Amino acid sequence: MSNDLTKLESELLGEIAGAGDLAAIEAVRVASLGKKGRVSELMSKLGSLPNEEKKAFGQAVNILKAKVTDALDARKAVLETAALDARLKTERADVTLPVRMGPQAEGRIHPVSQVLDEVIEIFADMGFAVAEGPDIETDEMNFDKLNIPAEHPARQDHDTFYFNPREDGSRLLLRTHTSPVQIRTMVSSKPPIRIIAPGRVYRCDSDQTHTPMFHQVEGLVIDETTNMGHLKWVLQEFCKAFFEVDEVKMRFRASHFPFTEPSMEVDIGAEAIGKPGQWLEILGCGMVHPNVLRNCGLDPEKYQGFAFGVGLDRLTMLKYGIPDLRAFFAGDLKWLRHYGFNMLDVPTMGGGLSS
Ligand code: DAH
Repeated sequence: MSNDLTKLESELLGEIAGAGDLAAIEAVRVASLGKKGRVSELMSKLGSLPNEEKKAFGQAVNILKAKVTDALDARKAVLETAALDARLKTERADVTLPVRMGPQAEGRIHPVSQVLDEVIEIFADMGFAVAEGPDIETDEMNFDKLNIPAEHPARQDHDTFYFNPREDGSRLLLRTHTSPVQIRTMVSSKPPIRIIAPGRVYRCDSDQTHTPMFHQVEGLVIDETTNMGHLKWVLQEFCKAFFEVDEVKMRFRASHFPFTEPSMEVDIGAEAIGKPGQWLEILGCGMVHPNVLRNCGLDPEKYQGFAFGVGLDRLTMLKYGIPDLRAFFAGDLKWLRHYGFNMLDVPTMGGGLSS
């Protein structure tokens, strides 16, 4: 019997030494130590041996098993090192190649989101906080408290989407502008107030420059001494920062909004966006009407301030030269890849807005 073991040992050690690659060494392992391997099968013979031989045979098989295991491990280590050396000889890493685009790098930030981040950065730098209000508003917040009573002609300009009347006859609506956030802010917090309120607004209107949903940013400053000089300065600083130029020509035209007195519309000289010789309207603004202050429980003898409303989509079209507003909301991937922004292009006042 011990002769057989010696023979088997030299055979297996020979096979191990002769295994030329990792697949061959694995084959030898299975054929020897695997469940039905030659060494394992010896163990199953143990039961049929006379008792006095069992111990010695068992020990001999265990020794054989240990030797084969050691030899397999050693040969495997040698072959692994050789395989790695061979790979290193053939593989080259060119560290000058551009980084491969991962899924994150494929994603794009919508231009309106990017511009909103830019606007928030600029106003945050001037000490404005961001306020929010609901998209579904009451008549009272969207119109009445803003000094637009039921029969006021300005209501007609707003192409309002109304919900069905409620039991008490009042109707909810989709807010037609972000101005109701002014009201909510003045009702819920004490002056000094310095906020911008970005958000979605809705009007029943659709053509190349109008979509039923669009975006506005409302601004509101209320304090005891705030005056029109402050309003003009804030808007001038905003325009310079936003269009990333040292000077912007601005024209303040007298206008009318029910919630401001006096009211103005603001045009910028289009050279700021590389089109000299034209004026472009960008926003409406004015000093908050005393009635609006009163409606919010503020004493107009004590408090005053200014408000403004900007179309965010329009700002985006002007700054980034995008011609058709409807494309903003069409969900066209080709458009988004062209006009969209990289996720890591986060606008900051310190690091630059768009560069
Ligand atoms: N709410 C106005 C609109 O929807 C925009 C606006 C104009 C807002 C003048 C203001 C403002 O706060 O003072 O067209």
